[in-house]
Amino acid sequence: MVGDIHVKGLGLSFPQQNGIHEVLRDVDFVIHSKEFLVLFGPGQCGKTVLMEAIAGLLPPTAGSVEDAQGSPLRTQELCMVFQKYALFPWKTCRQNIELPMKFKGVPKQARRKRAADLIHLVGLDGFEHSYPRQLSGGMKQRVAIAAAYAKECPLLLFDEPFGALDAQTRLQMEQELVRIWQQEQKTVVLITNSIDEALLLGDRILVLAGSPSSILEEYDLREFPRPRSLSDRPLLNLRQSILDRGFFENEGGGDLRCE
Ligand SMILES: Nc1ncnc2c1ncn2[C@@H]1O[C@H](COP(=O)(O)OP(=O)(O)OP(=O)(O)O)[C@@H](O)[C@H]1O
Ligand SMILES: [Mg+2]
Repeated sequence: MVGDIHVKGLGLSFPQQNGIHEVLRDVDFVIHSKEFLVLFGPGQCGKTVLMEAIAGLLPPTAGSVEDAQGSPLRTQELCMVFQKYALFPWKTCRQNIELPMKFKGVPKQARRKRAADLIHLVGLDGFEHSYPRQLSGGMKQRVAIAAAYAKECPLLLFDEPFGALDAQTRLQMEQELVRIWQQEQKTVVLITNSIDEALLLGDRILVLAGSPSSILEEYDLREFPRPRSLSDRPLLNLRQSILDRGFFENEGGGDLRCE
């Protein structure tokens, strides 16, 4: 189990030809243990950069990401699903899913059984022996999601994991993530640029935007009962008030499903 995670005064800049590109400034928030936190923001606002900093893959220019004891997060505590399906191209679907279990020393038979269950869970029965190049974008993303579940860690960091999926599969995968979060008591941080996904899934929504970006708003959805529907009046009202804030104004609307 991971306790609360503190993102403190995080800043991230990249050197550019004529100076530096400051992407994040003074990003401050807490990821509460076992919550479903959504990071929502327009394109190029620094969502992926922030997630990579949380995961320890990008050293921040300022500030820190610390666990409850004030230490950096340990890689074995977190699984990340990258925006661009990070699969091993020379390994089959099943081998990609089994790999995290292999690293953990799970015996072969147990690995195989769990991989079969996960392949079924993400709807890829029959594709066990396919290589990533033989799969569509959405299928690859489902393998990456299954591989993240296979690692069985308390913190799931999902960077727009459902963007490449068709609407029906996306809904199933979203529901499955909520089920896993609830049943297995995980902490989930989900990045999305879909306001509907944010509203349907999150305990809290943090809006990352600006230039440089920081957390501009926080919405607490813990009082909204689950499963949620976008036809629930209070949710629709909240959706409208978020849209009225115009976080996507310079960006063409994001992915506004169900407009
Ligand atoms: N390694 C890097 N070197 C230089 N600039 C970078 C690097 N990684 C990201 N950036 C820049 O940081 C900014 C934020 O990128 P990031 O990928 O975090 O955006 P995002 O919010 O995830 O966008 P999207 O919604 O399109 O996924 C972009 O302008 C990008 O060009
Ligand atoms: Mg991104």
